[in-house]
Amino acid sequence: MTGMPFPACVPELTDGVVRLRAHRVEDVDRIVEQCNDPESIRWTTVPTPYDAAMGREFVESIAAGWTTPAGDRLWAITAADDPDEVFMGTIDVRAKGAGIASIGFGLHPEGRGRHLMAGALRLATQWWFDQGGVRMFWQANRGNFASWRVAWACGFTFHGTVPELLTARDQAFDGWTGSVGRGADLTRPAAPWRESVVLEADGIRLRPWRDEDIDAMEPWVGLEHAMPPGAQPTPETFPDWLLRRRERMSQGQSTHWCIADAESDRAMGDAVLIDKDQEEGTAELGYLLLPSARGRGAATIAGRLVLEHAFAPEGEGGRGLRKLVALTVGDNQASAGVLERLGFTPWGREPAFCARSDGSLDDARHWALLTPDSR
Ligand SMILES: CC(C)(COP(=O)(O)OP(=O)(O)OC[C@H]1O[C@@H](n2cnc3c(N)ncnc32)[C@H](O)[C@@H]1OP(=O)(O)O)[C@@H](O)C(=O)NCCC(=O)NCCS
Repeated sequence: MTGMPFPACVPELTDGVVRLRAHRVEDVDRIVEQCNDPESIRWTTVPTPYDAAMGREFVESIAAGWTTPAGDRLWAITAADDPDEVFMGTIDVRAKGAGIASIGFGLHPEGRGRHLMAGALRLATQWWFDQGGVRMFWQANRGNFASWRVAWACGFTFHGTVPELLTARDQAFDGWTGSVGRGADLTRPAAPWRESVVLEADGIRLRPWRDEDIDAMEPWVGLEHAMPPGAQPTPETFPDWLLRRRERMSQGQSTHWCIADAESDRAMGDAVLIDKDQEEGTAELGYLLLPSARGRGAATIAGRLVLEHAFAPEGEGGRGLRKLVALTVGDNQASAGVLERLGFTPWGREPAFCARSDGSLDDARHWALLTPDSR
């Protein structure tokens, strides 16, 4: 449609749920509302404060982009069943050359929570591939799970976290990057997003971690070499500790549960299933208890809940795994006792696995537990 004036040059795209159309001057008031919304300010590069003159300039620049051969392509998002085509947000495709483009998007607060953006992202990405594009890149400020959830649902693969990748209003932010290539299935995720389903027994509840659990954090006391570095949350490290765990879950690498007291719901520790990519149907079990939560059997109850969930068939809400493995350091009798009570078998001892705080070396014990069907 190049050569045509704006807005006739803008292809209308729809999947029956969402419609992408050309921006209009009538959209300016809602563009201003969107750009002054706290979520938009937190996660995007919008200038702030944002006024109507800036909104009009934005719509003019969009028109100029569409009438330039390699210019940016921005659409207004509307609900397909809305006869008034009320502005609900913007999605933009920015060509980088060589068939590569990057996508950006944001919704007006009224457009959120309706799954509009996944449809919009599929339409714009498919449009790019239909023009001969080969790859679409996505970037977001680290921690923008709502944005990653949209890209994830559309088949994007997560590539990594880059320090200070993105800047906005003279501040640098760590950035997430991902992409999808032509030929990929845009209708389903490329990797799982692990969920901490709530599990409960014998006074213990396993549930998703919450930001407020920081109030339960304690200084760490115990065998420092028993856990990988950084595995124990402390009052100082908890926000970053939790962000890393949420990242790993959103990338299908592991599933974390907060071990909580069922009555008070207070956090007592962490239970984790770490996916073993090279061993289909296998995961590593891990757990830790805060110092004040030890000595009442909570790790064994939590471990039993996790292993029942791990071995339950997928059709029954479980993971359908066939094997769990675990590792304890040679000194860690308390943890070895938990695994014995759970039915794990020790199968090997690895010498000189890690250093104790005095510099001496400790062994690792390796454990395994098979489902009854695999034994
Ligand atoms: C990012 C944005 C477009 C997502 O659209 P949205 O309408 O809020 O998303 P939805 O409510 O339709 O949610 C889509 C999915 O993400 C999930 N989700 C939303 N917020 C989430 C969060 N913080 N953590 C995990 N999942 C989240 C929803 O539960 C839903 O999951 P489901 O498909 O399994 O039901 C919107 O939140 C937005 O405009 N944010 C501000 C601007 C922005 O961040 N733009 C992206 C810059 S890279």
